[in-house]
Amino acid sequence: MKLIHDEPLDSPRSLAAPRASSASHASRAFVPTMGALHDGHRALIRQARGAVGPSGEVVVSIFVNPTQFGAGEDFDSYPRDLEGDLRICEDEGVDIVYAPSARGVYGEAADHANRITVDPGPLGREWEGAHRPGHFAGVLTVVSILLNQVRPSIAFFGEKDYQQLELVRRMCRDLSIDVQIVGVPTVRDHDGLALSSRNVNLDPDQRRAAAAIPRALEAGQHAAADGSAAVLEAVDAVFAEAGLTPDYRALCAPDLGRAPERGAARLLVAVPVGRTRLIDNCPLELGGAHVR
Ligand code: PAJ
Repeated sequence: MKLIHDEPLDSPRSLAAPRASSASHASRAFVPTMGALHDGHRALIRQARGAVGPSGEVVVSIFVNPTQFGAGEDFDSYPRDLEGDLRICEDEGVDIVYAPSARGVYGEAADHANRITVDPGPLGREWEGAHRPGHFAGVLTVVSILLNQVRPSIAFFGEKDYQQLELVRRMCRDLSIDVQIVGVPTVRDHDGLALSSRNVNLDPDQRRAAAAIPRALEAGQHAAADGSAAVLEAVDAVFAEAGLTPDYRALCAPDLGRAPERGAARLLVAVPVGRTRLIDNCPLELGGAHVR
């Protein structure tokens, strides 16, 4: 396994390799992360390996991206464990770990307020974007830079961060970034809580309370046949019972558009538990029971 920290600024493409000549043959798979790797990240890495096979290359980036954290958010206290991360990557047969500094990613522009950034559009200002202004501009900007530095043919993102996944898909489509984006289902703990690097910040009481999040999603799924109002009511009831107040709980179409009255939809929630903010989501089928 090769560990690359900063690339010399005069050769920002030194990670780059020629793309596979045939579009159907993915030769370099990429898993962008902020480290503190857990089994959710492992699932992405395994899918990446499965996609390129033993002869392909799996690249994992580890970079806690400052520009996607707002003032007063947890950039400084975000968990960091490069040694543990390298063990996991080695264990999963990763070929290249790319762990750059902010300068390695942003170059001379690292500290400039007038850098060029990616505008996530109106859907980047909804839900997670409404609660974290500038967050998705930071995410999409760093993802586009990393895609340009790593030049993968295929890249893996978790459904856990559903709005992020859909915005990355849209960015690649709208900006003609030539990479296949694959979404990977959420990996959960024994009680259903979605694995997250931030879960280590929960104390035992908070960890117990957080289990209400997957229960609320499940209650929403069970109520889906009765329509969107019933879903939101069921979700609210579980959170109220657990003494949690969500930042938002929202229904949208699977592509983040308006939720349909009937048919496939996505339920998104964000819930502060103590000082830790957790997000989760699930698919559901609205109004099914009433279709004649
Ligand atoms: P991070 O939170 O480290 O997540 C890296 C990838 O792992 C993301 O695509 C995320 O959706 C996925 N992931 C996290 N928890 C998961 C789980 N329980 N099951 C499945 N996948 C999971 O997301 C980021 O980093 C950053 O925003 C990044 C895309 C790297 C840009 O900085």
